[in-house]
Amino acid sequence: MRTVVLAGTKGGCGKTSLAFATGIRAALEARVYFADVDPQHSLIDMCQRRAEDIEGDNPCLLEGVESIIEAKRRLHESGFLRDYLIVDTPGSFVDIIADAVAAADVVIVPVLASPLDILAQEAVSRIITELHKSAVTLMVLNKIDRRSKIIDEAMELIVPMFPNKPVWISHRVSYVRGAVAGLSPAEIDKGAKGEIDALWTGIQKILRNSRNEKTQSRQPKTRQARRPARRRKERTEGHPAKSI
Ligand SMILES: Nc1ncnc2c1ncn2[C@@H]1O[C@H](COP(=O)(O)OP(=O)(O)OP(=O)(O)O)[C@@H](O)[C@H]1O
Ligand SMILES: [Mg+2]
Repeated sequence: MRTVVLAGTKGGCGKTSLAFATGIRAALEARVYFADVDPQHSLIDMCQRRAEDIEGDNPCLLEGVESIIEAKRRLHESGFLRDYLIVDTPGSFVDIIADAVAAADVVIVPVLASPLDILAQEAVSRIITELHKSAVTLMVLNKIDRRSKIIDEAMELIVPMFPNKPVWISHRVSYVRGAVAGLSPAEIDKGAKGEIDALWTGIQKILRNSRNEKTQSRQPKTRQARRPARRRKERTEGHPAKSI
């Protein structure tokens, strides 16, 4: 199960909105869980709004999660793992953020195109560096106006922070409209769809790179190691999670 954590030590930069959109994008091709460790429970609220109109158990909201490390351990033991776990975190509470980042295969850090907002991400950058997650971190310049010159200044500040090329997400009304209706902006706006697809492609690239690195570090390969992993069958009965 690949864990994608949205993190940032600046409020309102788009963690919840992009977690929601990423989970719904992931569910187009995989089995997905959402977990919300932000005491504000904004992602849970969005999931509940979605459940009012849309049936199905993918993505599926995991309830009562306090620690991502612990939740993953329990899912592993009970055989309820899925392909992806998408996690929303709070803008403060460093311990909660660190617990989620420690469990992450990919960390997404949304930032606004403003030097002060980027500076405010210093604390999350420190957590990421200390937990050796820089290589799997993807910054997202969010709510941008693509014509604005401030983007160049913001890119100068964020490009040196982590090795992966930042992704751009435009400021769009569909984020606000979608949130009210429990929909991803990509479900109601073609432009937003293209950008969320690009974010998903960025996530896949990081996962591919870290898979390759792990394989190389395990060289020389034995015959058994080269055999493709058998897909784990997902258990459904007695499921601890609530569907959205
Ligand atoms: N690309 C975007 N275009 C327009 N509005 C956006 C965009 N991304 C997020 N928003 C809006 O910005 C506001 C804050 O976004 P969001 O709640 O996702 O941020 P957050 O980082 O989770 O905030 P918090 O730290 O409070 O949890 C919301 O009203 C959301 O709809
Ligand atoms: Mg939030």
